[in-house]
Amino acid sequence: MKLGLESQVALVTGGGQGVGRQICLELAREGARVVVNDLFPERAQAVTREIESEGGKALAAPADITQADQVQAMVDTAMKHFDAPVQILVNNAGIIPERREKGGRTPAFVDMPVADWAKIVNLNVYGTFHCCHAVLPGMVAARQGRIVNIISEAGRIGEENMAVYSGAKAAIAGFGKALAREHGRHAITVNSVALGAVSHEGIKDGPLHPDATVQNNELLAKMVRAYPVAKGVGRLSKPEDVAGLVVFLASARALFVTGQTIGASGGFAML
Ligand SMILES: NC(=O)c1ccc[n+]([C@@H]2O[C@H](COP(=O)([O-])OP(=O)(O)OC[C@H]3O[C@@H](n4cnc5c(N)ncnc54)[C@H](O)[C@@H]3O)[C@@H](O)[C@H]2O)c1
Repeated sequence: MKLGLESQVALVTGGGQGVGRQICLELAREGARVVVNDLFPERAQAVTREIESEGGKALAAPADITQADQVQAMVDTAMKHFDAPVQILVNNAGIIPERREKGGRTPAFVDMPVADWAKIVNLNVYGTFHCCHAVLPGMVAARQGRIVNIISEAGRIGEENMAVYSGAKAAIAGFGKALAREHGRHAITVNSVALGAVSHEGIKDGPLHPDATVQNNELLAKMVRAYPVAKGVGRLSKPEDVAGLVVFLASARALFVTGQTIGASGGFAML
């Protein structure tokens, strides 16, 4: 299937590892010119080099997406570099790294410090707002655009001990639907992809570590039982299992798909 992504400029937030990295690689393989954003410059640069080594075009664009001025500067730089506005935005950056580093169970809402609410809301919600705000004028002028938000099934069905994260992801989906209504008239589509647990190279420990198996990790074995497809293949999803849907939603072929939230979680939630 021809996706029509050749030469499109695509900005992926948090593209330096995990799900975002895979989305960057697959967009580039379809011919898009990829603006690889990450908070950590070395991560953005590494993925940019990977894309270039495959013959693709990319720009490392380090920026903290919780800061509106940094986002605007990044979008301006990308426009100058590629001499074209951003036509595809993938709002991917989302998880708070400290959560993984601390390990163990995350606290219930009543035990969660207020300062931690802000970190989650700032990255997920404000990060998405800032990026949409910075790219939409260019998309409106071009009467063309694709926005894909990476959310979590936690945002659709709620997850225990993840109340603020669940609420932040639900906020993104609701925001996306409103934008889809506001900008359909400009031929801009806005959709969300809801993920379940995704194992990848950026995860250093626990059941989502790439070396964990149902044989050597009890928690992983329990998690796998919660996902219909994971039960079938004996593992959780990987970035390659979810990036294709994102690339399709970013493509010309998905013009009439808008305002939707689509699960790529192996049936964890069926809504
Ligand atoms: N991995 C999972 O199990 C899982 C499950 C459900 C949903 N998701 C969602 O998928 C998306 C990607 O998840 P992941 O596991 O690949 O995440 P990750 O944490 O491994 O990678 C995200 C990247 O975002 C970058 N980042 C963090 N803060 C940033 C900021 N302020 N500005 C710019 N970049 C920033 C990080 O440096 C990192 O490279 C997130 O939105 C997450 O909520 C992931």
